[in-house]
Amino acid sequence: MNKNLANIKKSKFYLDKGCCIAIPTETVYGLAANAYLDSAVEKIYKLKKRPKFNPSIVHYSNLKQLKNDCFLNKNFFTLYKKFCPGPITFVLKLKKNSKISKNVNNKKKTLAVRFPKHALTRKLLKKINYPLAAPSANISSKISPVSKNDVIDEFGKKIKFILDGGKSKVGLESTIINLIKKPQILRLGGIETSKINQALKTKLKFNKKNIKIVMPGQRKVHYSPGIPIRLNVKKPKTNEAFILIQKRKLSKNNYYYLSKKRNLKEAAKKLYETLRLVKKEKFKSIAVEKIPNTGLGEAINDRLIRASKL
Ligand code: TXA
Ligand code: MG
Repeated sequence: MNKNLANIKKSKFYLDKGCCIAIPTETVYGLAANAYLDSAVEKIYKLKKRPKFNPSIVHYSNLKQLKNDCFLNKNFFTLYKKFCPGPITFVLKLKKNSKISKNVNNKKKTLAVRFPKHALTRKLLKKINYPLAAPSANISSKISPVSKNDVIDEFGKKIKFILDGGKSKVGLESTIINLIKKPQILRLGGIETSKINQALKTKLKFNKKNIKIVMPGQRKVHYSPGIPIRLNVKKPKTNEAFILIQKRKLSKNNYYYLSKKRNLKEAAKKLYETLRLVKKEKFKSIAVEKIPNTGLGEAINDRLIRASKL
């Protein structure tokens, strides 16, 4: 049997038993469990040391499945057609008769849902008859994992199985948009705000004030490598790791490049991997060059600002 197929079968076996496993997505790896089963979802929260009030995103295979749990609206269909499967999460109204475990969303009346693009995870979702609750597969407030090794880094042998899907292509979490009333961007991510505005014919802007009210889980400190980070730095101190957006003619041992020529897609993909690497190299602090605040640069800067709040 093909290796991937065997691993998908193994994943299904563990998930059907109510275990949680790590799955690859195009954004970051997720720690997944049956979203309809209280005991399975509880395991995610224990492993991640995630506060119960912080709801999780539920991953679906198709629209028919989603209709069992949520009310869909016009804005949803517009964005779904344009971006799904892909790095976008929708906050929708939960149906009263939905089977979603109360542990997924802490009994809230809303649910965050997404259709991931990674081929292996899509195949897995097709094979099971329940959606998957899956927050990023990292210990709460730490850096999100973008490879199997990163997940091992976070949890060691505590996870029953990791479905290896290679490196995540986007490298940053999904964009989250609240579609309950007037659309609101709740988290910057893999789909740029300008693309969403184009699709919805709106002029939405990311506004931190909205988040405090709607998004209990977004704390100031997040994505943290656990050492101080200085942003918009022109010249690093000695013994400081220096993360740059563009290759320099004169490079040094402590220089880490997110991209060759200021390509923000490439930089997004390398961000978490680089932060993790620098941490392992045992630098005492990190300096980051100024990153343009356009397109995916907005999401990169958002993560760096939060990572810098120790
Ligand atoms: O790319 C992603 O979205 C990844 C992959 C694995 O899918 N997942 C991810 O999940 O980033 P997590 O749990 O690390 O971040 C989900 C965020 C949290 O900040 C949480 O507070 C918010 O989504 N969230 C979940 N349900 C919500 C809801 N009903 N209303 C508002 N915010 C919600
Ligand atoms: Mg996370």
